[in-house]
Amino acid sequence: MKLLASDGLLARPARIWTREKLTYLRKYATAFMTAMAKKPGPGQWERLVYLDFLCGPGRDIDTDIDEEFSGSPLIALAIEPHFDHLYLADKDSKNVEALEARISVADKPRVTLRTGDCNLIIDNVLKSISGRTLGLAFIDPEGFEVDFATLAKLAKRRIDLLYLFPSGIGVKRNLKNFLAVPESPMDRFWGGKDWRDLPEARRAAGTSQEEDPGKIVQSLVSAFRQKLREVGFTHQDGAAPLFTNTRNAQMYHLLYLSHDEIGLKIWRGIKKISPGGQRPLPGIG
Ligand SMILES: C[S@@+](CC[C@H](N)C(=O)[O-])C[C@H]1O[C@@H](n2cnc3c(N)ncnc32)[C@H](O)[C@@H]1O
Repeated sequence: MKLLASDGLLARPARIWTREKLTYLRKYATAFMTAMAKKPGPGQWERLVYLDFLCGPGRDIDTDIDEEFSGSPLIALAIEPHFDHLYLADKDSKNVEALEARISVADKPRVTLRTGDCNLIIDNVLKSISGRTLGLAFIDPEGFEVDFATLAKLAKRRIDLLYLFPSGIGVKRNLKNFLAVPESPMDRFWGGKDWRDLPEARRAAGTSQEEDPGKIVQSLVSAFRQKLREVGFTHQDGAAPLFTNTRNAQMYHLLYLSHDEIGLKIWRGIKKISPGGQRPLPGIG
């Protein structure tokens, strides 16, 4: 069933963890822009951009409490100081149409909005930003939509990344099925077949005695972070916020990845307060 927001346009159904992840985005983007928009020194960056290639329609509705709020692209557009440019995309043209209608005339010149697959869109966007651009990417999939190669491309540029890693809901839940077939969506997502050697994979295959589910998810997150370190994201949060559902099942980790100490320091600063004070989030990684 189509979900409509109060403006009559398409909205995304959301839950409590949606608001939590978006609170982290709002806080980090604000702190990032406040720090970076100060006049840079010679030879430093010339432009500050935001990238969101799975951006949704721009409005979310928490269906549990019937509360409406801005999605990631509208949050990023409202950040002060303003990003110089925002590169937004979604595979679903209906989301893109709804978002386009929500972007004000005043904001339109600083937005590039496309319909398409994030794993293809990225090449065009990276071509159009110079090596002297500093960026923040928010990559927010539901599951396995984003290829590891796409994250690796971001790692080659001066871009901080907030990535919603589907540790519990995606990887852990599907591992057994993926192991049963020679090719699976996990291969592109993970960037190879080495995931088959992980403790969790061995457990799913029945060849390991490891039984602690928390430990197993942690091993997945650590292994993925290590791969991201190898492609260039040298500065990472080792205690990524973990989102659980209302039955306390582990769902996602919000990975923070950067190339420098300043970004990581800013992230650690904003992370000290849990999102909206709603509930404390455990962090593992
Ligand atoms: C979790 S939602 C994003 C929500 C959004 N960040 C927000 O705050 O409302 C994921 C979005 O990715 C889109 N999507 C799925 N696969 C995609 C792909 N391969 N490339 C680009 N967008 C994709 C979906 O249409 C959906 O809108």
